[in-house]
Amino acid sequence: MAILVTGGAGYIGSHTVAELLAHKEEVVVMDNLRTGHAEALQGVKFYEGDIRDRSVLDRIFGENEIEAVIHFAASSLVGESVSEPLAYYENNLLASHTLVSAMVAHDVKKIVFSSTAATYGEPKSIPILETDPTEPTSPYGETKLAMEKMFRWCDGAYGLKSISLRYFNAAGAHMDGHIGEDHTPESHLIPIILQVALGQREHIGIFGDDYATADGTCIRDYIHVMDLANAHWRALEYLRKENASNVFNLGNGTGFSVNEVIETARKVTNHPIPAKVSPRRAGDPAVLIASSEKAQTVLGWKPQWGDLETIIESAWKWHQSHPNGFAAK
Ligand code: UFG
Repeated sequence: MAILVTGGAGYIGSHTVAELLAHKEEVVVMDNLRTGHAEALQGVKFYEGDIRDRSVLDRIFGENEIEAVIHFAASSLVGESVSEPLAYYENNLLASHTLVSAMVAHDVKKIVFSSTAATYGEPKSIPILETDPTEPTSPYGETKLAMEKMFRWCDGAYGLKSISLRYFNAAGAHMDGHIGEDHTPESHLIPIILQVALGQREHIGIFGDDYATADGTCIRDYIHVMDLANAHWRALEYLRKENASNVFNLGNGTGFSVNEVIETARKVTNHPIPAKVSPRRAGDPAVLIASSEKAQTVLGWKPQWGDLETIIESAWKWHQSHPNGFAAK
């Protein structure tokens, strides 16, 4: 039986596909290629299509024996979601409604879901536990939380078992260098810093240095994309063994400030990487650090590439060999 990966041509999706293949899983990918890259996929059956299109979903479930779905396809930018909330309700919540309706109709009862630390909003305490209050401060976090809740209600009604994985800051690239991060436009800290080192930007803008942290810049929990990918495979195994719904944080449990990330990137790239302080970005909490103890205990997950230098080195290797991402070099 196969695993259907929606959004499998995207950044975290494509790394998860590679991890599933490494575990000899049969993989079917569906992606509308709006932000994903067909070049990131090898050795899988691929359907170009949108999960809002029920007819494509019916075709996929009809033509393949799907055991479970790993669901990435979504819009995922916090700032954009604040200015375009309706697009987020459509692409995230309504689209997932179509996907789950098709799953229920075709008797597919397992889903691993790409959720986010943005479901917590401004944390009440650090590190963040899965049992902490969820009060999203953006439509992005709000729609992801609504999706989690929809899946849980579908457990009671239809026996759909869901694992929601709340990621902290995904970063890095595949250790063999064949896939990595490629967003247009890029908004994430580490790839932007590396674009400076590549000479594609003049400086990195630091969004605020007056936060209540030791050096005044925001602190985040960076987690290697391959470690995230491995957690998806473990979540799938958990569904197979336990047949129960659950939710897990995925982070390293260690925070780094924006200044510390820039400093580490200077060391890795041997480039001065000029930085300039610019105003705060709306909606940025000062500190986000996960407790991933539950994932470690219940899923047996252990991050292998947690060290920030290793994360940045893997990203640097990818960006150097693919300065224009998947586009022609
Ligand atoms: N930052 C800068 N300058 C930049 C870009 C980012 O200073 O040019 C700062 C941000 O203010 C933040 C940190 O670097 O403090 C990390 O920012 P990213 O944009 O890389 O990531 P976010 O923390 O905003 O968001 C990411 C994902 C979200 C997810 C969140 C959960 O993109 O989907 O992590 O922690 F919800």
